[in-house]
Amino acid sequence: MSTATFRTAVVRAPGGPDSIEIIDVPVVAPGPGEVLVQIAAAPVNPVDLAVAAGVFHGMGLINQPEYTGLGWDFAGTVVASGPAADLAVGTEVAGMVGGFNRDFGTYGEQIVVPAADVAIVPDGLDLVAASTVPLNGLTAAQIVDLLGDAPTAGSRLLVTGAAGAVGGYVASLAHDRGWQVTGLARAEDEQFVRGLGADFTAHAEPGWDAVADAAGLQERSLALVRDGGAFVGVKPNAETAHSDGTRLAELLARTASGALPARVQTVLPLDHVADAHRAVAKGGVRGRYVLRP
Ligand SMILES: NC(=O)c1ccc[n+]([C@@H]2O[C@H](COP(=O)([O-])OP(=O)(O)OC[C@H]3O[C@@H](n4cnc5c(N)ncnc54)[C@H](OP(=O)(O)O)[C@@H]3O)[C@@H](O)[C@H]2O)c1
Repeated sequence: MSTATFRTAVVRAPGGPDSIEIIDVPVVAPGPGEVLVQIAAAPVNPVDLAVAAGVFHGMGLINQPEYTGLGWDFAGTVVASGPAADLAVGTEVAGMVGGFNRDFGTYGEQIVVPAADVAIVPDGLDLVAASTVPLNGLTAAQIVDLLGDAPTAGSRLLVTGAAGAVGGYVASLAHDRGWQVTGLARAEDEQFVRGLGADFTAHAEPGWDAVADAAGLQERSLALVRDGGAFVGVKPNAETAHSDGTRLAELLARTASGALPARVQTVLPLDHVADAHRAVAKGGVRGRYVLRP
């Protein structure tokens, strides 16, 4: 009897883009509460470059016997539902899988995930755009949760990397919690940052009530917080964003309405995954590279 398989991208011995392999692995049936999704689109995020480079293997956060899966978020179509999974076959969904130490990822044709971790993609939002929302939208929402409500009206929040995926979402979402937001970004990103409803700076001085360090500037950003202020960072990535289907549904709705940006740089076939990683590694990319299996 032959076993059905699907294609997925992995690293065995991490060493950058050239170490990424596409292999065939067995199809897995969804268990209780799970769905099997045929993936239509999976974005390339900075964390994927770090996984392929072996950064997290080096930190002891990945310890896979054979190979490590790549990719954190996806959009696609439910092709099988396990018992008690309340999503019909044919439903378009998006979601993310968290954690570093796994032999599967979203760079592939299929994935099995808990139905509670995905959200239905609203009408009017295509799957490529939807795929770019889960990881960075949820990361930003969870950063804003950590910051909480602005302590006083007009409390000033600096968002570093405001022209990036995480920073752009934080800059948008923090308004809801009463923060007066300023985005730190490159001079050429001023129009995009102001379009988020934030003030803009290319050179921040110290004294902020809070800093959300989406650019990962670390100590340089920490030094910008006033005494007694708040700081939320994104590195060294040991504390990762987690799945949340309910929150993701809100983020997708806001993306579909145009309230949150959806930026796609280039769509490439999965076979070009190494090219996509090389392009992102050069830096300066605005919008995501998205892989289509
Ligand atoms: N902990 C978690 O769960 C989690 C989840 C998601 C992301 N992350 C991490 O969060 C970071 C951001 O991810 P992302 O997807 O938002 O990356 P991104 O889209 O590449 O955005 C980063 C932005 O920061 C800008 N930037 C870097 N240095 C700057 C500086 N000195 N001044 C102004 N702007 C600067 C970049 O501009 P240039 O391109 O011009 O350099 C870019 O626009 C990454 O390190 C990622 O790994 C962590």
